[in-house]
Amino acid sequence: WTRVVVAIDGPAGSGKSSVSRAAARALGYEFLDTGAGYRSLAWLGLERGTDLEDPEAVVGLLDGFDYAIGTDPDDVRVRVGDVDVTAAIREPRVSGAVSSIARVPQVRVHLNDLFRSLLDAPGRPGIVAEGRDITTVVAPDAPVRILLTADEMARLARRAGELDGQSDADVARQVLERDRRDSQVVDFMTAADGVLTLDSTQLTFDETIDAVVSLIRAAI
Ligand code: C5P
Repeated sequence: WTRVVVAIDGPAGSGKSSVSRAAARALGYEFLDTGAGYRSLAWLGLERGTDLEDPEAVVGLLDGFDYAIGTDPDDVRVRVGDVDVTAAIREPRVSGAVSSIARVPQVRVHLNDLFRSLLDAPGRPGIVAEGRDITTVVAPDAPVRILLTADEMARLARRAGELDGQSDADVARQVLERDRRDSQVVDFMTAADGVLTLDSTQLTFDETIDAVVSLIRAAI
């Protein structure tokens, strides 16, 4: 890598996105939310009425997939074509559809190439990338690799607080179902060899950020 690459994986509700972004900000690094890439493709498929259960139809979406993601932790806008999809990709309909496209191998290869070119792009001295397979597939050779975990109860409570307008039970069902489906594609519940595990169950948001920043400082 041409700069410091920090790889962070974890399940839904582990706080990895907000923690990674805050850690990147604290260190003057860039930030890459790889889930936003998968979500953008799922959004495009939903817009076009593509059958997302049909892998061939999903692969067809990659043709000319024009997607851009902000890596400045203070400006993480996401665009597909001319459309700003930053808010739209967080909608429940996208969360519900994204696992279907994420299990298609060609989709993963295509997005991983894109992610790796962003990691290696000239810019700030480092970049924090978070997702499900950053420590194992996208950047297994990153100098800092962290698996961010939290007990199921803590993860569900955090997610429930984030999403208005849906009952906690609905949110819990969706989060667990998404993790179950995603786990069939990549393992993000156990740390691979050499990956540090950080359990945030008993930590506040700020304590988790401090812990991540300390791990990064100790490793570089
Ligand atoms: O992290 P986030 O919840 O935004 O990820 C959305 C979805 O993208 C996940 O549920 C998973 O299906 C997919 N994903 C993935 N590999 C990654 C990041 C996200 O398969 N590295």
